Amino acid sequence: MPRKIAAGNWKMNGVGAALSEIDALIAAHPTPVSRIVICPPATLIHRMAARAQGSALAIGGQTCHTASKGAHTGDISATMLAEAGATHVILGHSERRADHGETDAQINAQAQAALAAGLTVILCIGETEAERDADVTLAVVETQLAHSVPEGVTAANLVIAYEPVWAIGTGRVPTTDQIAEVHAAIRTHLVTRFGEQGHEISVLYGGSVKPDNAAQIFAVPDVNGALVGGASLKAADFGGIITALDAA
Ligand code: PGA
Repeated sequence: MPRKIAAGNWKMNGVGAALSEIDALIAAHPTPVSRIVICPPATLIHRMAARAQGSALAIGGQTCHTASKGAHTGDISATMLAEAGATHVILGHSERRADHGETDAQINAQAQAALAAGLTVILCIGETEAERDADVTLAVVETQLAHSVPEGVTAANLVIAYEPVWAIGTGRVPTTDQIAEVHAAIRTHLVTRFGEQGHEISVLYGGSVKPDNAAQIFAVPDVNGALVGGASLKAADFGGIITALDAA
């Protein structure tokens, strides 16, 4: 069975004061069944990792450059994330694809850099609303997987997050049938490409996951957890999602 994972994406939210949420989260979930990952802004990674030491909480970055160092003003490398205490990195989030024009080829190169630095990649894919309306969701997701996931990945270093762009931050969630259809297609792709490992790679759903809809989403076949934005910022909300995943 794939590992159950609850990952929180803080996006560009949180300064030092927000670290108290981490203390509360660790205190409330000392021995979770699921793997818990928080991906804060880069400025908080080092402090959060120090705070989480000895706990079940893992820390991740939100992107990385394809190079390990160099003349890339404002960027951050996978090596730097790892040195700061991250064990994971989100790559290919739709906000990166939209705001920074990141392509599948670039995301593939970023993933290779992350793997070389020893990070586990949480790779995001998902269709826009126009693509869903045009009934090309499965083709879009298949193309993103084929081009952005590098060869040689394993269940130990790759997590896929299916995030319909229209469900992110909107309060709109696909039906459980829609989620099941895409997750089944993702699983087929992974097994076709990576054999036995493809069965073990965790596939998360993301997009408006909240404590009150989490259990329903986690009951969908091939949903192995969630990538959570807004509801990961408060320990009480994210805790409700962790509790639902632990029980799933
Ligand atoms: P949301 O964001 O939970 O706020 O919809 C999810 C994400 O972007 O990862």
